[in-house]
Amino acid sequence: MNKNIKEVLYNEDQLRDKIRQMGAKVSKDYYGKDLILIGILKGSVIFMSDLLKEITIPCKMDFMAVSSYGNSTKTSGVVRILKDLDFEIQGKDVLIVEDIIDSGVTLKYLMKCLSARKPSSLEIICLLNKPERRKVDIDVKYVGYDVPDFFIVGFGMDYAERYRNLPYIGILKDEIYK
Ligand code: IMP
Ligand code: MG
Repeated sequence: MNKNIKEVLYNEDQLRDKIRQMGAKVSKDYYGKDLILIGILKGSVIFMSDLLKEITIPCKMDFMAVSSYGNSTKTSGVVRILKDLDFEIQGKDVLIVEDIIDSGVTLKYLMKCLSARKPSSLEIICLLNKPERRKVDIDVKYVGYDVPDFFIVGFGMDYAERYRNLPYIGILKDEIYK
């Protein structure tokens, strides 16, 4: 285990099983629909690629990059689009893929921005959710795990761009970011 990790929350086997279940659910719910998954860079890439492999119906993928101003462990509420979609989503069934939802501010903004493009449906799937930290109300269709308010890294999630490559999800030691 990485020396800066206090505790492993979910190991590779647990994540594989969880994402398999999520992929099966999505495949069933979106059967016959015009599904497009939109990954939010960069945190969602590992979840996105594992999830895609578990989806058994035809689907497309696209990415968006957004950034919130402010320091690295808290979101400020101001969001800007760094990379927009390649595809148009009008009339499509859009599923936004996120690594972790914290305040919900990023997704609230994205939902507003994407719904203006008139998709046929617009929903969110996230691997982790921190309900205690929610500042704005958002509807999340699929949640992998609800987690307590720890700073989490691995499986795509970073602290200052590090730890994304860990194949498990862990809690970062407090002294690393405090
Ligand atoms: P929100 O707008 O506050 O919901 O922030 C969501 C984004 O903040 C996520 O997509 C992550 O990129 C980042 N984030 C929030 N909590 C954590 C965490 O515990 N570890 C790593 N990134 C996090
Ligand atoms: Mg993110």
